[in-house]
Amino acid sequence: MNVLVVGSGGREHALSWKLAQSPKVDKVYIAPGNSGCAEVGECVDIDVGNLRNLVRWARDHEIGFIVPGSEVYYVDGIVDAFKDSGIPIFGPSKSAAELEGSKSFAKGLMRRHGIPTADYAEFEQFEPAMRYLDSRSEGPVVVKADGLCAGKGVVVCQNLDEAKAAVKRIMADGEFGSAGSRVIIEELLRGQEVTILALTDGKTIAPLASSQDHKAAFDGDTGPNTGGMGAYSPAPVMTEELMDEVVEKILISTVHGMNEEGRRFRGLLYAGLMLTGGGPKVLEYNVRFGDPETQPIMMRLKSDLFELLDATVRGKLSEQTIEWYDDPAVCVVLAAGGYPGTYEKGTVISGLDSAAKRPDTVVFHAGAKLNHQKQVLTDGGRVLGVTSRGKDIRTAIENAYRAVGDISFEGMRYRTDIGKKAL
Ligand code: AMP
Ligand code: GLY
Repeated sequence: MNVLVVGSGGREHALSWKLAQSPKVDKVYIAPGNSGCAEVGECVDIDVGNLRNLVRWARDHEIGFIVPGSEVYYVDGIVDAFKDSGIPIFGPSKSAAELEGSKSFAKGLMRRHGIPTADYAEFEQFEPAMRYLDSRSEGPVVVKADGLCAGKGVVVCQNLDEAKAAVKRIMADGEFGSAGSRVIIEELLRGQEVTILALTDGKTIAPLASSQDHKAAFDGDTGPNTGGMGAYSPAPVMTEELMDEVVEKILISTVHGMNEEGRRFRGLLYAGLMLTGGGPKVLEYNVRFGDPETQPIMMRLKSDLFELLDATVRGKLSEQTIEWYDDPAVCVVLAAGGYPGTYEKGTVISGLDSAAKRPDTVVFHAGAKLNHQKQVLTDGGRVLGVTSRGKDIRTAIENAYRAVGDISFEGMRYRTDIGKKAL
């Protein structure tokens, strides 16, 4: 069967890498893909935003299964667009994707179904939001724009002045456009963050291995938030007991809550959690695989990814068991100088061949592309995700950083403490 992966990041490279290993998959197409995707399949330069064209293209190329990567496609209704095409597509419908597309909907769902999350207030107008902040006692709060902002719509504020400035930027200055026409102001939660990904067909919930992202730009979790500077799996803080609690109080309630509200969720449910003194609480939901969490998770997945995704779409997830390699995996993101601010593109990357020769290591490409001479050039902020397994987390970290040492490009920057929290 031919499979189409839609997207171009490190997550999409990792998913297509794993899908290409399935005996049931003949060929993986990636639209638009990147230089790494081109090693495991065929990249196709089509306008993936034009859903009608995409459906036609998929029919013409005998695509038998589709895996969109980013939330943007789901929120735009890619699954609905393929509904009558006869081509199975992985992931939630537009109405179920609201879980990520609107923080207001997500918080409301949690409130309605008793799912643990930070206390919050919601505003559609600037003045009441400011008055609310004035009425609060001094202290940290988190301000969030309602809609999709490519991970940039959340501002952790240490005091009320910072919070007012954030509300002003989002609501009055319109920094995020219509995504900021509503804001959530919520209590700051403290603890360790973990990511729990789970496949669900709306009936069965199959959690994947736990992982931890590193969102801050610099070592020691300092600097601005990024899309993620690295990740590891499993997260040792996530004990079996805690996992049972998360399944019980968060995943089951979420999937049931969505069913009850007529928005059956099928696909990959991403729960971003804070492990607080009062138990695990939801920071955010995403409706797709995490990036960069997917890179170490795919390195650890022993089962056939295609079979799992296909069973999810067919409502047959209960028939699957998911097998893992015990060895932990670590992904170190190599970013362009300046990221998450402005950065250059188009510089030549060297050392990829030596890194790829290292055992238990895969360099997943993200913002990287091939030029006509088949050189790999930087093409984004997060450029590569160097991912290694090891017999324990320490060895996995060493393996990944050894491979990082092989690679260089002008301005290359990375965190040197990925995985340290797991030691
Ligand atoms: P989100 O996009 O909602 O995951 O927010 C991005 C990041 O902001 C999270 O990964 C957390 O690090 C942080 N964050 C969001 N909400 C809170 C909260 N209520 N308390 C503390 N940190 C938060
Ligand atoms: N790693 C964060 C995300 O995928 O949203």
